[in-house]
Amino acid sequence: AVSPFKRGAAFSDTHSETLELADIDWDDLGFAYVPTDYMYTMKCTKGGNFSKGELQRFGNIELNPSAGVLNYGQGLFEGLKAYRKEDGNLLLFRPEENAMRMIMGAERMCMPSPTIDQFVDAVKATVLANKRWVPPPGKGSLYIRPLLMGSGAVLGLAPAPEYTFLIYVSPVGNYFKEGVAPIHLIVENELHRATPGGTGGVKTIGNYAAVLKAQSAAKARGFSDVLYLDCVHKKYLEEVSSCNIFVVKGNSISTPAIKGTILPGITRKSIIDVARSQGFQVEERPVTVDELLDADEVFCTGTAVVVSPVGSITYKGKRVSYGEEGFGAVAQQLYSVLTKLQMGLIEDKMNWTVEL
Ligand code: COI
Repeated sequence: AVSPFKRGAAFSDTHSETLELADIDWDDLGFAYVPTDYMYTMKCTKGGNFSKGELQRFGNIELNPSAGVLNYGQGLFEGLKAYRKEDGNLLLFRPEENAMRMIMGAERMCMPSPTIDQFVDAVKATVLANKRWVPPPGKGSLYIRPLLMGSGAVLGLAPAPEYTFLIYVSPVGNYFKEGVAPIHLIVENELHRATPGGTGGVKTIGNYAAVLKAQSAAKARGFSDVLYLDCVHKKYLEEVSSCNIFVVKGNSISTPAIKGTILPGITRKSIIDVARSQGFQVEERPVTVDELLDADEVFCTGTAVVVSPVGSITYKGKRVSYGEEGFGAVAQQLYSVLTKLQMGLIEDKMNWTVEL
C-alpha cells in the first residue's frame, strides 16, 4: 500500500477532506527558506488597534523606503511550529506564549501589538491555508514566522506612524547542518549580543543582525555557532546566537537566569518544566563559563533548534568535549519527552498543544 503521507499523495484527515501534499522532497528538509502559498497581514496606525487581517497569496511586500523598520530597525519577530499528527490533524505548540512575548517586545520597541487572540487566530488561519506544506509525521514541521514592523514612513528618529503584522510559514527539518548530531560552539570573547538595559530580552530583529559577524567568523573556522558571555563581567553564559543554553552536572541542570539580556525562550521554559517533571533539579541562575569545564553535558534549546546536544565548546583556545557521538542521556530524555508532546505522541498533561 502507498503511504498516505507520500510526496504528492492525497490523504484524508479527520475532517475527511483530501489534500495533496506539496511536491517537495520531505526527506531532505533543513532550515532553508521554502516559499509557500499564503501569508497573513494586518495593519494598525500608531496609537490604534489592529483591525481585521487577511490571508493573501505569499509574495513580496511593498514598503516605503522611509519605513521605520528599514531605517531604524523597529521590528520584532516570533517563531513557532506546527506538527502533523498521524491522523492528519495539526498541532501548534504554546502559541499564546509567542503572542505574549510579542506583546512584551512591542512595548519595549514602542510598537502596538496584536492581542493574544488576534495573534493566535492569525497563526491558525495561516497554518490552515498552508496545510499542504506541513511535513508528514516524523519528517519535520511547519515553521511559523510572525513579524511585527514599523511600516509607516519616518525620517527623523521616532516610532513609525503605521505598523504591519505579517505571518509567513516554511516547512523545516533540522536547524543545524549537523542534523541531530552534536554541535560545536566557540565562546565569543570580544563581541557581545546584548547589554543590560538594552533589547537582548526581546525578539527584536537587530539582536540577530548584531551576531552575524561573530557567527560568520565562527562558521568559517568550522564551528556550528557562537556562545556569548555577559558584557559586564565577561564570565557568565548568556546564550547562543539562535538558542538558549543548558549545563548538566549530575542530576542538576542549570541555565542562565532571565535578566533582560537573554531571550526568554519558550522551548527553554518548556524544557525547565519537563526536566522538573522528570525529577531533575533545575536552576535558573548565573552560570559561569568555568562551569563548562566540568559539565557532564551541555545542550541548547530553541523553537528552531528544538534540543540540540553540544559536542564541544572552545574557550580561549581550549576545547572541552562532551561525548561527540550523539545525544547525552539527559538531553536525549528531555528531547524525547518534548518532541513526543509536540507531535501528539504522548498525553499532553501540560495542556501545551493546540489542535487544528
Ligand atoms: C527560533 O528558534 O524560532 C528563532 O527565532 C531563532 C532564529 C534565529 C531561527
